[in-house]
Amino acid sequence: MTGCLKARGTIHRDFTISKIDNRLYSAFIEHMGRAIYNGIYEPGHPTANEHGFRKDVLELVRGLDIPAIRYPGGNFVSAYKWEDGIGPQEDRPVRLDLAWRSKETNQVGINEFANWSKEAGIDMMLAVNLGTRGIEEARNFVEYCNHPSGTYWSDLRRSHGVADPYGVKMWCLGNEMDGPWQIGHMEAKEYGRLADETSKAVKAFGNGIETVVCGSSNDQMPTYPDWERQVLEECYENVDYISLHKYFGNSSHDTLNYFAKIEETGRYIQSIGSVIDYVKAKKRAKNDIYICFDEWNVWYHNREEDNKNWNSWDWPEAPALLEEDYNLEDAIFVGGLLNEFIRRSDRVKIACIAQLVNVIAPIRTQTGGAAWATTIYYPYQFASLYGRGTALNVSVDGPRYNAKSEQDVNYLDVAAVLASDGKSITVFAINRSLNEPMEMNLSLLGFGHLKLIDHQIMGGDYLQARVANTFAEPNRIKPRKGSKLAVVDQAILGELPAFSYSVVRLSVE
Ligand code: AHR
Repeated sequence: MTGCLKARGTIHRDFTISKIDNRLYSAFIEHMGRAIYNGIYEPGHPTANEHGFRKDVLELVRGLDIPAIRYPGGNFVSAYKWEDGIGPQEDRPVRLDLAWRSKETNQVGINEFANWSKEAGIDMMLAVNLGTRGIEEARNFVEYCNHPSGTYWSDLRRSHGVADPYGVKMWCLGNEMDGPWQIGHMEAKEYGRLADETSKAVKAFGNGIETVVCGSSNDQMPTYPDWERQVLEECYENVDYISLHKYFGNSSHDTLNYFAKIEETGRYIQSIGSVIDYVKAKKRAKNDIYICFDEWNVWYHNREEDNKNWNSWDWPEAPALLEEDYNLEDAIFVGGLLNEFIRRSDRVKIACIAQLVNVIAPIRTQTGGAAWATTIYYPYQFASLYGRGTALNVSVDGPRYNAKSEQDVNYLDVAAVLASDGKSITVFAINRSLNEPMEMNLSLLGFGHLKLIDHQIMGGDYLQARVANTFAEPNRIKPRKGSKLAVVDQAILGELPAFSYSVVRLSVE
């Protein structure tokens, strides 16, 4: 028996959460699987440009308007020698990538990647290897990338055909150093010391460089959240961000519980916010540290299969790894997670979808063939395009449910953003109920006259929850125009279908 849920909410122009840092919509790409090779880079592909990058993939990437991209890893970075990827391509060594048990040809290195990022209109956010290497390689890498000329590393870059320095502002101090799987894994204090000294060296190059220190690999790690406390106690004054990572899944096919994991993520952010505040107070520090959620996504469809494979296979080149066929349910989940980042934008300044192409990605490719958008491409695109400006506080009064792992969860998941020019508002609204539509009455006060610009919707039928965009059928799940919401006086009124994600854009006149 199904009915209709009713929810009310209020937004007021004066009640804001924070100005949103555009980098909330960043991405991550690693030398892993077919992310780089046969993902963004495929010299033999019919659409490849003169540098070997696929233009069809570039076009999909540009559609996301990504502000920054974290590179080259991930676990890969912890045994990576960045110098292997510079100079003439034919002279570069082939190495074994210990993280993903693959062969790394080094045909793409920093200069090729910088070229691609420029074409895509994305700033680079580079990670240094603090697993097998340390301060020396990090400072050399920064000098190669950022110093104009007249030194060994900057002149080497120039001899490689890159006259102007890249001026990379964001540097990540290793990757998931708390994880026993990480090559060069460390204890918290040991890593905190190394991160502190490396950050000082990296920042010595000036020009507003910012650094990201590794937090826990996820909130289920046995050392979480004491890892963060210990690390920050060593380096608080010399870093700008602490990283958070979290991957999600719904192997038990319990959709309401899946959606409730967004609440769990909110607590994760809040806890690390508290650790930051604690260490700041303890150290009598003057600076603020923010959160860089630099790996997040859905990762579960093929996880077991992948683990089996890469533990046993014989060092293949660009193997298909973590290639997830995302479904409608995953798209709604991703929309909700992005809502949470908007609601927490006072703490979370940078977030990176992990990853961008083929490997747990919004964009997939077939080697030699087509490129397509997975279902999660769309909520990520909507948030990136319309989620910039100021996050508005939304108070919601509506029905709730108890999930297996979480009590008292709102069926209505909503976030709202006032555009930087103050001329439009975007409301991202999810009805998490699997079978009941929701009558929504959302007041928007203090804005003056409002007009509906557009309403885009995904979902609306739980029977389609597991339908995915695949190579054979790349367009099954796409946003469409919604018709059941209207703006009346100062409110959005109408129906959110069951199991749906909506993006409602209003002009402020
Ligand atoms: O994104 C895939 C992997 O997940 C990354 O290499 C690592 O940082 C994380 O564990």
